[in-house]
Amino acid sequence: MIINLWYVAEWSETVKDKPVKTKVLGQDLVLFRDLTGKVQCLANVCLHRGGSLAGGWVNEKRDCVVCPYHGWEYDGKGKCQKIPSEGKDFTVPPRFRVDAYPVEERYGMIWVFMGDLPEEERYPIPDLPQYGDPEWRGLPAEYTWNAEAARVVENGIDIAHASFVHPVFGYPSTAPDNYIDNVEKHEWWGRSTNVMFPPQLKGGFLGWRKLIRKDKQETRVHPEWQLPGMVVRIQIDLRPGWQIVMFDANTPVDEHTTRTFAWQFRSFMKFKIFDKGSHKRLVTILEEDARIVEAANPYYLPETLANEVSVKSDKFMSTFRMARRKLIEEKGWHIDLDKRDSFKGRTVLTVPSPARREARENGQKWVFDAMPTIPPVKEPQALKAFEKEVVGLTTDSANSNESIVD
Ligand code: FES
Ligand SMILES: [Fe+2]
Repeated sequence: MIINLWYVAEWSETVKDKPVKTKVLGQDLVLFRDLTGKVQCLANVCLHRGGSLAGGWVNEKRDCVVCPYHGWEYDGKGKCQKIPSEGKDFTVPPRFRVDAYPVEERYGMIWVFMGDLPEEERYPIPDLPQYGDPEWRGLPAEYTWNAEAARVVENGIDIAHASFVHPVFGYPSTAPDNYIDNVEKHEWWGRSTNVMFPPQLKGGFLGWRKLIRKDKQETRVHPEWQLPGMVVRIQIDLRPGWQIVMFDANTPVDEHTTRTFAWQFRSFMKFKIFDKGSHKRLVTILEEDARIVEAANPYYLPETLANEVSVKSDKFMSTFRMARRKLIEEKGWHIDLDKRDSFKGRTVLTVPSPARREARENGQKWVFDAMPTIPPVKEPQALKAFEKEVVGLTTDSANSNESIVD
C-alpha cells in the first residue's frame, strides 16, 4: 500500500449531515460535510482517549466533528477547537491536532490525498471528461475484492486474459490474433492500444445487441493505468461513434481488500431503459475477474520478476509494475506492513498529513506516530534488473508501434 497518492474514500452522496467512517490504506478515516458544503477528512481517532470520531456528530455551527466520548470538537484542519470539560475560557493548545487530509470531490466521488506532499508535488487526480457530458450516458457501480489493489489494477489492464476469462470479450481461439499496437508510458500513467477480435454481442430486445458489431470484427481497446487512485480506464471502440469507457478507482481499503468505485460510460443507446442490462454486464465482468484474481498466488504482486516469467503480451502490465516499484524503491512510499503490525492494538499510527509535515518543519510535536514506510533503496539493484526486463519487453516486439515516453 502506497502513501502520497489520491484515493477515492467514498461516494459524494454518502456524506450528508452525519460523519461517515471509511478506511483507506488500512487507516480509519472520518468524513464530514461542513457548513460550506465542503467535505473534510480526518484520522478517525480522538487525541484524548482514542474515541472514534465517526461515532459522533457534526456540531451546531457545522464546522467541527464532535467526539462522542467527552465531546471534544475538531475542525476540518484537524485542530481541536473545543474541550467542554475545561470551560469556555480554556485555550486549546495548538499541539492538540489530528491528521487532516486534503479532499477533492470529483465525478461524484470523494478523493482524499493520503500523504504529506505539498500540493504542487502531488500527481493529479485522473481526468474523466465523460462525466457530466450529455454525449455520454454514465452508470456508477461498486465492487469489493478480497485482493490487493495492485493485483486488481494489473488484471484491469491485462488484455490477454480477456479471451479466457470474459466470454463477451474474446474467444480462446482468437487469442493468438490479438496484439498490442502501441504502448505509451509516463511517470504516473500509461496507456496502450490493443487490437482484438471479440465475439458478436448477445442480448437486448429481440437480440438487437448483435447488430453492434460482427463476429470477430477487429476492435480497438485502450487500457490505461494511473497511479493516483490506482485507476484503470478502458476505452473500447465498438464501431465508429460507438464507444464504452470504463473508469475504475481501485481503493486499497487495507492490504486484503480493494473497493472499486466505478463509472461506465457509453456513447450510444443512452436511454435509461438500457442501464439495467449495462450494469448487469459490468458486474458480471467484475465477478469473472474476481474469481481469478482472488485465487492468484502469491497474494501480493511480486516485488521482482525473478520468480515468474513474462512474455510480450505482458509488456503493458509491466509498465505499471515498474512505475509502482519506483514509488517504492526510489521514493520510499510503501507502508511497512510488518513494522506497522508490530504496533497493532498498542499504538495509534497515522499516515502523515501535510499539517504534520509543516509542524515537523517548524519543530513542533505531533501526538500520533507516523505510519512506518519502507525506506528508499540506496542501490536499487532489483529495480534495475526489473527495468532491464521491462525495457526488453517493451522494445523487443516485432509488430508494435512503440512510443515510450519517460
Ligand atoms: S476520547 Fe474523544 S473526547 Fe475523550
Ligand atoms: Fe478482466
